[in-house]
Amino acid sequence: MKLKPARRLDGRLRLPGDKSISHRAALIAALATGVSHLSNFPTSRDCASTLRCLRQLGVEVNYDGNSWIIKGNEGLVESPVPLDCGNSGSTIRMLAGILASRDFTSTLTGDESLRSRPMQRIIEPLEQMGAYIDSRDGKPPVTIRGFHHLRPIRYQLPVASAQVKSCILFAGLATNGRTEVIETTSSRDHTERLFNAFGVSVTTEIEESGRSVVTLDGPAKFTAGKISIPGDISSAAYFIAAAMLLPGSQLAIEGLSLNPTRAEFLSVLRSWGADITTTDIQIECNEPVGTVRVNSGVHSPLRKDQNQRLADSMIPLLIDELPLLAVVGTQISGGLEIRNARELRVKETDRLAATVRNLRAMGADVEEYDDGLAVSGPTRLRGALIDSYGDHRIAMAFAVAALIAESASEISGEECVEISFPEFFQLLETVVER
Ligand code: S3P
Repeated sequence: MKLKPARRLDGRLRLPGDKSISHRAALIAALATGVSHLSNFPTSRDCASTLRCLRQLGVEVNYDGNSWIIKGNEGLVESPVPLDCGNSGSTIRMLAGILASRDFTSTLTGDESLRSRPMQRIIEPLEQMGAYIDSRDGKPPVTIRGFHHLRPIRYQLPVASAQVKSCILFAGLATNGRTEVIETTSSRDHTERLFNAFGVSVTTEIEESGRSVVTLDGPAKFTAGKISIPGDISSAAYFIAAAMLLPGSQLAIEGLSLNPTRAEFLSVLRSWGADITTTDIQIECNEPVGTVRVNSGVHSPLRKDQNQRLADSMIPLLIDELPLLAVVGTQISGGLEIRNARELRVKETDRLAATVRNLRAMGADVEEYDDGLAVSGPTRLRGALIDSYGDHRIAMAFAVAALIAESASEISGEECVEISFPEFFQLLETVVER
């Protein structure tokens, strides 16, 4: 698709529910005692994958035109065919934690991208808990022979990953005793918040060293609930960045999840000079939710500091926004360096390589490292042929680059935005002025 540069953004939006929260809410509802109602549930393909797998496992899942109604069925039944998780790493990893304790065998698979992603990170803790798992060299398809009497474990995550942490916590629900997950760097905490919201106590203790210990006592059961999923801040990020980069923009996005383990990029953009405010903060789903406003001045606000660097413990908190932040980095005087972000190489595509190639196509001066990249700035990006590599976050990050470029760009494979945000291009046109 062709995307022309924009003059400014102006408007007020409300976005579909957060993808991370939605996966968890659906899985929890499927295991809960009673009937749950989930509203503002996104139409994204990833979340549809979670619902489809739950149906295959015998869970009643219906839509009433406003909410997804999920009738909890702790029993779950064996699926006669493999469970297709599509493109969704969250679905396969969290569902694996649930299936590890069932007394039947399940095979989890997905599309070509998912079948190339590392699963050893969940296989290892689940095997320690007593499940039997086969895989294709640590990649999907993953076949889980569930074990009824899973053992609780104390497990230190080798990589900061909320999906792995959540997989272990879901498995811990079926154990007799204390499951502890130790994180040396904190990752998003939606599972902990939602478990508590649905009646299962999970505590987090932050040690002096900065390590956190997440604790769950099993066996434990959820109680069904009625929730409205807060707007997805990772989807909002593209609009917020575009508004801050285009002088004269004024944008408000209401009802957004402002969870501190997800909203770090707002602080980063503010530290680079953006005028971003958050108001009307309330608690929904045990998560802070509010309105984000961006007002860009007459000139691009980016501060003229040297050597902006994103690294270490900030990385897990910015993980899905890093390709976008690299695009923003091209507009900072002194540029931007991103390090300790090797995890980006095992996302839906190799996001470091994809970001570097597309930035270079747009005329940016970029260096690629094994664990990150460095961009020089400020650079006037030129319109280019952009490859999404079938990755929704690459397509959306480079849609923002296209808006600030000096001439039109062409994005290939742009339909991949359906994975997290099918409404993206349509909503963008409602706030873009050319
Ligand atoms: C997610 C966690 C992150 C993130 C992904 C969603 C989640 O993955 O990149 O988009 O919902 O827990 P990791 O936990 O593997 O870093």
